[in-house]
Amino acid sequence: MDKLIIEGGNVLKGEVEISGAKNSCLPIMAATLLTDEPCVIRNVPPLRDIYTMIRLLKSLGMKAEWSNYTVFVEPRRKQRKYLAPYHLVKTMRASVCVLGPLLAKLHKAEVSMPGGCVIGHRPIDLHLKGLSALGGEINIEHGYVVAKTKQLKGTRIYLGGPFGSSVLGTANVMMAAVLAKGKTLIENAACEPEVVDLANFLLKMGAKIKGINTHILEIEGVKELKGVDYTVIPDRIEAGTYMIAGAITGGDLILKSANLEHMGAVVDKLRQTGVEINTDQGNIRVKRRKELKPVEVTTLPYPGFPTDMQAQMMALMTVTEGISVITEKIYPDRFMHVAELNRMGAEIMLEGASAIVKGVKSLSGAPVMASDLRASAALVIAGLVARGKTEISRIYHLDRGYEAMEKKLSKLGARIRRLKE
Ligand code: EPZ
Repeated sequence: MDKLIIEGGNVLKGEVEISGAKNSCLPIMAATLLTDEPCVIRNVPPLRDIYTMIRLLKSLGMKAEWSNYTVFVEPRRKQRKYLAPYHLVKTMRASVCVLGPLLAKLHKAEVSMPGGCVIGHRPIDLHLKGLSALGGEINIEHGYVVAKTKQLKGTRIYLGGPFGSSVLGTANVMMAAVLAKGKTLIENAACEPEVVDLANFLLKMGAKIKGINTHILEIEGVKELKGVDYTVIPDRIEAGTYMIAGAITGGDLILKSANLEHMGAVVDKLRQTGVEINTDQGNIRVKRRKELKPVEVTTLPYPGFPTDMQAQMMALMTVTEGISVITEKIYPDRFMHVAELNRMGAEIMLEGASAIVKGVKSLSGAPVMASDLRASAALVIAGLVARGKTEISRIYHLDRGYEAMEKKLSKLGARIRRLKE
């Protein structure tokens, strides 16, 4: 297993290119199951999760390959299969979003139930509720969701759970509804930019969807969808991660190919702390000149502050003088990074679903362990300013969602290298 070794203390400066959004690519790749025609998806970064989705599409009888930031998918009509096996689903929860397209297109699906997850309890009841409402007959058998239907039929579905809307739940139900007979209304739909991106992909395929970018989606089912050529949006979480990496070192960065429109809450909080964020000839400039100020952050569904930026924001607050409070309202247990940051000298206390962060003068490098994708990013950010050497193990988590992070950071002046094991 590879490790990252970081020598902290360098100020980050220069330009960084933001990759395509992983969390757009995955459901969009699943949506190619809805057509018999080839699809081309552009701006797809070479990430572990992308390769897992390619393997899954292949196991479902599709031709799928990644080359030069582009995924090509072509259905092999006679060889289509409807079983998403445990060994693939267990490595990536997003695999569950093949369920809706398979049920809509093949009228059958057997998809392994996703297993436990380190960021907390992650049920799929809303996905199943929506698909049943559309007329899917759904059973759980031997660890698999077994779904079938004669024909899905449009209906009115309320898709809210105890923590609000569901991103992949909305994606799954929307992908099923586009081929259902008649009209579907999804109430309390998620409106994260990645859900909007998927809806735009489906529109291009010939789907009829109204209310995109709102919490109520109105979908008129069509008989079939066509293959398309589509470019995914930039990754707002990767962009936010580099903003914080730059800010924590007192740096000056230009983010290329990022979209500030998708980052309102993150930009607002960073500006409150004293980070300067401006647009500069179509790029985003992030500069920090003064001491940072503590903030209160609560994660919420979009357009609220994203849970996927919570750990990185916490890393920034560890060296911000004063008391910051970070409350997690999407995954109340998503705090695996706290113990590791404290090992580096941070002073963070957990109180229910809130972390109380008392800023310290400096962090000190230590061997730490990555527990999930965004927690890993937080440890990298902390390592950039820690005194001495930080050694992060289990960085396969990082490779699931950040393209060549050590290369991008090195180019900006960080002393970071990968140790192959
Ligand atoms: C997506 O997961 C993202 N994954 C996650 O990013 C992200 O953290 C999450 O949305 C929230 O923004 C992908 O897009 C691949 P949810 P998803 O359904 O869709 C509860 C990353 O680091 N819920 O929106 O699975 C759930 O427990 C990953 O890139 C139900 O109760 O998340 C949570 O509390 C990690 N029942 C809340 O809803 C359900 O059926 C929101 O989860 C589904 C969800």
